Amino acid sequence: MNLTKEIDQIEVIRRVGECADELGLEAYVVGGFVRDLLLKRPSKDLDFVCVGSGISLAQKVADSFDHHVPLSVFKNFGTAMIKLEDWELEFVGARKESYRHDSRKPIVEDGTLQEDQDRRDFTINAMAISINSASYGDLVDPFDGVRDLKRKIIKTPLDPDTTFSDDPLRMLRAVRFATQLGFDIEPGTFDGLIRNAERLQIISGERIIDELNKIILAEKPSYGFKLLFVSKLLHQFFPEMVELQGVDSVGDKSHKDNFYHTLQVLDNICESTDDLWLRWAAIMHDIAKPATKRFNAKVGWTFHGHEDKGARMTPKIFRKLKLPMDERMKYVQKLVRLHLRPIALVNDKVTDSAVRRLVYEAGDDVDDLMKLCRADVTSKNSNKVKRFLANFDKVEQKIQEVEEKDHVRNFQPPVSGEEIMEIFGLSPSKVVGELKEEIKEAILEGQIGNNKEQAIELMYELAKAKGISKKEN
Ligand code: CTP
Repeated sequence: MNLTKEIDQIEVIRRVGECADELGLEAYVVGGFVRDLLLKRPSKDLDFVCVGSGISLAQKVADSFDHHVPLSVFKNFGTAMIKLEDWELEFVGARKESYRHDSRKPIVEDGTLQEDQDRRDFTINAMAISINSASYGDLVDPFDGVRDLKRKIIKTPLDPDTTFSDDPLRMLRAVRFATQLGFDIEPGTFDGLIRNAERLQIISGERIIDELNKIILAEKPSYGFKLLFVSKLLHQFFPEMVELQGVDSVGDKSHKDNFYHTLQVLDNICESTDDLWLRWAAIMHDIAKPATKRFNAKVGWTFHGHEDKGARMTPKIFRKLKLPMDERMKYVQKLVRLHLRPIALVNDKVTDSAVRRLVYEAGDDVDDLMKLCRADVTSKNSNKVKRFLANFDKVEQKIQEVEEKDHVRNFQPPVSGEEIMEIFGLSPSKVVGELKEEIKEAILEGQIGNNKEQAIELMYELAKAKGISKKEN
């Protein structure tokens, strides 16, 4: 197969080929770019491999421009990188050993193109396109990656045990590519995942979470999680999620399988958001169900308090998974904690104050919370689904009405602590906090409006009752 037509639109490829010719080096475009080119998925990362020094080729390419182009050389790893407009060009010499982009291990032995291709992760990632003028555009595809692209299959070029022991992270990459591309994992390769799953333990948390997040950002992440679960890869780094799986029964009373329910919620939320953290909130929303599960003869299975316990588990799980411990974690934690609250507002008799309290607690994340609640409706009974969603429409309307009236979404106390201290001549003390808190409570309860005038009036009343009087001027 010759791909001249496909690569000719990318001017820089021909330039690299010409530089390689001048140096007398065999050079190729390899890996993900070739795969994506054949899949017609645009990619801006170009990986070049040459038989010889990748660094000298990169240097030659950089020098071939009239203007300055930034070149970074990583001598220890034998690689170099050029940034050119929005393109990222990577250069490496062909290697005999496992190819790893981010390996901390220094350079491995030089090899031929075939040896280099042997040590790549999957047949669809092991294709190379020649860019020397004599064979420009020729596809070098020793493992029939083209066929696997057509068959939609992820398969290791060598025995999976060899490919996976070169770099166990590749097991997660197999699942990630399958999920992103909607491919199957070839049965022999999948058996390799099962056999080698425990070897994932030697991989750093940072590399694992990078792949997991890519799975979560795919169009249908549930597929990836099912593969992770069946292969037992998930068990290696996220046992709390594995725990969700299973159904218990007592007599004729059983509960739903919370693992598959969670996956459904995750897929549902993917239809309304691309945001990684809202997707994480879907993953975490029922995480404490196993820990709070009880059976009661009258009501059947209960999971009381799973939202609070889940919120408490969130930082621990985030820390363990090397997820950020900043406001992104707090956001997920908040949504986990509040995810049952909108359901409680469905009732017609719900007071404005209950709605106001929720809006106050959720703040600007109240819309995301509603998305999560909608995604959480996974009944198979379509009438039920319709009814639940209609109920949430009502809740959203109530939220809007209350918000228009009271503006508590980003609540700022109408009287500040400084003002209270100034008016009564107080120094920072407990009583100042109490006054502020009582004013806020009165606003949320709807006893006074959310405005300065009524807040000040109430403040004087409360102060009087506490025996505090206005400062004499
Ligand atoms: N590779 C590998 N084993 C790894 C990582 C990478 O064999 N653990 C090889 C593959 O040939 C891969 C290439 O290096 O195609 C580039 O790696 P990378 O940039 O991580 O992945 P891409 O395939 O380009 O895909 P994406 O950009 O979607 O991550």
